[in-house]
Amino acid sequence: MGNKTLAIIKPDAVQKDYTGSIISMIIKAGFKIKAMKMTQLTKSSAEGFYSVHKERSFFKDLVAYMTSGPCIPMALERENAVEEYRKLIGATDPKKAAEGTVRKLFAVDIQLNAVHGSDSDENAEKEIAHFFSKDELLNNFTE
Ligand code: CMP
Repeated sequence: MGNKTLAIIKPDAVQKDYTGSIISMIIKAGFKIKAMKMTQLTKSSAEGFYSVHKERSFFKDLVAYMTSGPCIPMALERENAVEEYRKLIGATDPKKAAEGTVRKLFAVDIQLNAVHGSDSDENAEKEIAHFFSKDELLNNFTE
């Protein structure tokens, strides 16, 4: 059970000024923000980040969505981070997300779903490294 996960506030949520509300929910749920930036993904960076989905019918639209404006990746720390963050954000499809979850409150549909969260400890490590250098992480995760 790992202590880190990679969260992204996606472009539509940033554009609609949901950033403050979403960060507040993350902090109230007991996560520590260990690194954060606002950045606009390039096509090749978005394709790389979501390469596991490259054969899916929604891949092209997903890349277009994720490059459509600035997003906010964050490296988060908490005990059992991957699972706890996924509980906080709710199901990928907001129609199936539990009441009070980030996606229930802020997502539009299964694609424009407001936030991303890593799905395993192994992917959390890879996804954090996609966005943050060792210097940016300040080595401040509790090991
Ligand atoms: P995320 O958790 O970032 O992981 C992959 C993303 O692909 C997902 O959120 C959605 O934005 C998108 N996605 C997943 N399933 C679908 C789908 N069936 N149709 C369209 N987009 C999807």
